Amino acid sequence: MTRHFLNLSDAGADAMAGMIADAIDRKASRAGQPKGAIDSDAPLAGHTLAMIFEKNSTRTRVSFDMAIRQLGGTSLILDGGTSQLGRGETVADTARVLSRMCDAIMIRTDDHAKIEEMAHYATVPVINGLTDLSHPCQIMADLLTVIEHGLALPGSQWAWLGDGNNVLHSIVEAAGLMKFDVRIGVPQGYDPDPSFAEQAKGQGANIVLTRDPLEAARGADVVVTDTWVSMGQAHAEEKLAAMMPYQVTEALMALAKPDAKFLHCLPAHRGEEVVDAVIDGPQSLIWDEAENRLHAQKSVLLWALGRL
Ligand code: CP
Ligand code: NVA
Repeated sequence: MTRHFLNLSDAGADAMAGMIADAIDRKASRAGQPKGAIDSDAPLAGHTLAMIFEKNSTRTRVSFDMAIRQLGGTSLILDGGTSQLGRGETVADTARVLSRMCDAIMIRTDDHAKIEEMAHYATVPVINGLTDLSHPCQIMADLLTVIEHGLALPGSQWAWLGDGNNVLHSIVEAAGLMKFDVRIGVPQGYDPDPSFAEQAKGQGANIVLTRDPLEAARGADVVVTDTWVSMGQAHAEEKLAAMMPYQVTEALMALAKPDAKFLHCLPAHRGEEVVDAVIDGPQSLIWDEAENRLHAQKSVLLWALGRL
């Protein structure tokens, strides 16, 4: 059975815990080495990861490229504009061809149905590097980051402020799997897809949606936000105005627990979803979070290729 990673549920709680533990071990065991050095066991030697980007990326692109190198393998990048996919070759045919020449596929695209189609036709693992629906690789890094900083996930309280987007969907999915709670502060008209909350609630997580940003932040262990305008969305003044009360400010952070952590997947729009004093402040974990994309993505690759 080919292991695809389209959403966190494809792996499930036990495998996610295993990936996080592996990431912590691998990160520690290569401390001080050059970033391009190969891990001593080179577990993916001889393997090639194909990466398809139909949207911009810095962290996902660099983290997966460095991840496969550190694991002893290599990567190649196809972008929407220069591959035949961009000229109308079908997702199915692309999946079949890449499966004959590469060992795994990571794709960043718009419509989640495309990645499902790719997984259907690929005979090698397909990994979701972000779709309009979800961003599971990001949340693996987020979980790793807060655990490294001492948070016990079960029963922890997360606050989301802003748009009901792909990153939020994966946080809510993680909440159900890893047993934490999420209070979502989101303005009317920008709610997340309710199916993620329904699933998480069914798994015992407490998921609350509120229009009150203060209620969302109060007593939180982790405060998270993201851009108000995701890739592919229109930069509408009306949306920015609706989001403004949900901006993460020092006053909002003061309502969370005193040792609350601040997360942001980046790229940030400083002065929109978060002010400088918070994103650059002592509670912000954003640079560890960004670095952990690399360590988390190594473990996702190892899991997908049956090495974990
Ligand atoms: N957080 C994240 O996915 O960043 P990129 O868009 O730079 O890949
Ligand atoms: N929600 C953002 C995340 C970027 C990493 C987007 O989809 O653009």
